[in-house]
Amino acid sequence: MTWFINLGITTKFTIILTFCMVGLFIFGALYGYQRQQKLIIMGEVDNARIIARQIIEAREYMSLVLTDEASHNYNLIPQVVATRIAQRITRSSSYYVRQVSLRFRNPANRPDPYEERELKGFADGATRETFQIIRGPKGESLRYLLPMMAEKSCLECHGRYESAPLFVQQLFPKGHPSYNYRPGEIIGAVSVTIPLAELYRAMTLNLRHDLIIRGGMFLLVLLVMGYIIHQAVINPISLVARSITRVARTGNFSDRIPQRGHDEVGQLIAAFNEMMAELERKTEQSRESEERYRNFIRMARSAVMTFMEDGKIVISNEKAERLVGKSRQEIIGEDFYHFIENGARLKGTIGSRLAAGEEGMIVETREYRILSASGGWRPFEIALSASRTEGKTLITAILRDISDQGSRRI
Ligand code: HEC
Repeated sequence: MTWFINLGITTKFTIILTFCMVGLFIFGALYGYQRQQKLIIMGEVDNARIIARQIIEAREYMSLVLTDEASHNYNLIPQVVATRIAQRITRSSSYYVRQVSLRFRNPANRPDPYEERELKGFADGATRETFQIIRGPKGESLRYLLPMMAEKSCLECHGRYESAPLFVQQLFPKGHPSYNYRPGEIIGAVSVTIPLAELYRAMTLNLRHDLIIRGGMFLLVLLVMGYIIHQAVINPISLVARSITRVARTGNFSDRIPQRGHDEVGQLIAAFNEMMAELERKTEQSRESEERYRNFIRMARSAVMTFMEDGKIVISNEKAERLVGKSRQEIIGEDFYHFIENGARLKGTIGSRLAAGEEGMIVETREYRILSASGGWRPFEIALSASRTEGKTLITAILRDISDQGSRRI
C-alpha cells in the first residue's frame, strides 16, 4: 500500500476515479444489457400476440361471412385462409407463423417438440398465451403460442364425422383424430417464432456505441478534473514545498508566493507568506540585536568574552584580545577555560549554577588568575553572566585586571 501513498495526487485521483468509473461502467453495461434485453423480449411478445390475434381474427371473420362457398373452394375454408395468411407472413418477414394441433389434419401443421409440450400443457378452456426463450442451433428465439378453443361453430367440421360437410368427410375419413372435439376443448394454437440473434446483435452494437460515448465523456471529465486539480491544488502546493526547501537551504526568508484566490489553497499561501514575513522580521530583529550586542561589547571598557557552555569562545572584544595577546581569529573557537588558572574548577562552578537553572549574573569572583599576553598569570576580577536563547546557553565573562599593572593600564 505504501507505493500508493507515495504516488502523486493527480495519479491517485486518476486511479481512484478510474476504478469507480470502470465499476460503474460494468454495472451500467450489465444493467443496461439486461434491461434492453427484457424490453426487446416484451416488444417481441407484443408483436407475436398481434400476429396471432390477426390470424385468429381473419379466420373468425371468414367463418362469419362464408355460407357454403367453402364447399366449392377449399382455399376459402376459414382455417385454410388463416393457414395461408400465416404462411405469407412467414415468407415476407423474419417471423415464423403457423397453426398447430395435436390432432392435425394438415401434416404441415404437425407440432414440433416444443409446441407439442406446450399444447399438452394447455388445460381445456385455456386462453392464456405462453412464451419462452429457446436456444436453438441458430441462436436464441422467442417461441409464442396462443391456444385456440373449439367453439360451437368449429364443431361443424371438427365435431361428429356424420355432421361434417361432405368435402371434409371426403378429405378426412371417419375415425380421423380431427373430429369429435367438445366445446371448450383446446383444438390447437397459433405458433409464432421470432429469432432474437439479429435483435441481440443490434442491441449489443447499440450498447457498444453507448459505452464508447460514455468512455469518451469519462476521459474528458478525467482530463478536465485532472487539469483543474493540477492548476488549483498541485501547482500552488508544490510551489510552497519548493519555497520551503529553498528557505531551509539558504536561510533566506524573502521568498513570497503570489496568491491567486481566497480558497483553502489561497489561505495556505497567505499563511505561508505571512509566516515568511514574520520570520524575516524576526531574523532581522535578532540580527540587529546581535549587531548591537557586538558593538556594545566592542566598545566596552573591560575585556569581554562570550562563550558557550563547553567553553568555546564565540565573541570577544579588542580588550580581551589584547589581554591574552591573540588576534580575534585565534581566539574565536578557543576554549575559554584554557585562559584561566584552574579553569576546570571554574567550569565546574559554572556548570552547577547552570544546572540549578540560574541565569543572569551567576559568578563574580576574584579567585582566579588569567593567562596574560606576557605569559604570566595575572589576578583578575571575573563577572560571569549566563543567558539562554533558542535552547543555547551563552556565558559572557567580563574581566577586570586588578593587578597594579592592570589598574594602571585599563
Ligand atoms: C368449414 C369447416 C371447418 C370449420 C368450420 C373449422 N375448421 Fe378447422 N380445419 C378445417 C380443415 C379442412 C382443416 C385443414 C386445413 C389445412 O388443410 O390446412 C382445419 C384445420 C384446423 C387447424 C390446424 C391443424 C390441422 O388440423 O391441420 C386448427 C387449429 C383448426 N382447424 C381449428 C379450428 C377452429 C378453432 C375452428 C372454429 C373457430 C375451426 N377450425 C373451424 C375445417 C374447418
